Amino acid sequence: MNGLPANGSIRTLTALEMPLLREHLLRLDPPSRRDRFHGATDDSFVDAYAARCLADGTVVIAYVEDGKVLGAAELHQPDTSENGVPEIAFSVERSVRRKGIGSILFRRLIAEAEGRGYQSLRITTGYSNEAMRALAHKFGARLTFRNGESTGFIDLSEQNQAESAKPSRGAFAEAARAGMNFNRAWWKLLWGMSGWGRTA
Ligand SMILES: CC(C)(COP(=O)(O)OP(=O)(O)OC[C@H]1O[C@@H](n2cnc3c(N)ncnc32)[C@H](O)[C@@H]1OP(=O)(O)O)[C@@H](O)C(=O)NCCC(=O)NCCS
Repeated sequence: MNGLPANGSIRTLTALEMPLLREHLLRLDPPSRRDRFHGATDDSFVDAYAARCLADGTVVIAYVEDGKVLGAAELHQPDTSENGVPEIAFSVERSVRRKGIGSILFRRLIAEAEGRGYQSLRITTGYSNEAMRALAHKFGARLTFRNGESTGFIDLSEQNQAESAKPSRGAFAEAARAGMNFNRAWWKLLWGMSGWGRTA
């Protein structure tokens, strides 16, 4: 697919839009949810996970169609990861898969990460998750397997040679603008809340 459907767009969610991430993750069918979270999860887990993404400032680049998030690329903050390498994760609803949306989200996420000065990214996926492994490979991830899981690192300094070196027109500017909007909304929300803290 060369472009998105006319009613679809890719953008970074503001803090106030983060409930759309929760709705998207809850809509994933059971196998997709298992693939996304590396095991069975119930709705309360997804609720807590989405709340934590809001609380810890996870950047969510979303594919939005008619006001619904149908795909998401998550860029987690480095300080939420054990080794300080930001974690990334992807989910695209079954109805819009294999149309290149995961690839567009990946490309935008890399632009966002580069804009933030990150050196590398980490992705974890199930050994049998062919779709995610194909997507990760496409963007230069080197995956290693252990205990049924593949963990991959993407070296952002190598991205100039990788597929992702061809961001769509205006992607960098859009990512930077969206990031600023997110930060503004986030701080507004933060200062407006009392007793704020990690939720899960
Ligand atoms: C992984 C996922 C995000 C891919 O989204 P998508 O929008 O279908 O991805 P794309 O259409 O951009 O495809 C990306 C590449 O992967 C390949 N691919 C996609 N689905 C595949 C599958 N089921 N088997 C093999 N390859 C597949 C495509 O052929 C494409 O390669 P190409 O550009 O060379 O043709 C989606 O399948 C998903 O949400 N899965 C459930 C959640 C999940 O597993 N998340 C990963 C844990 S972080």
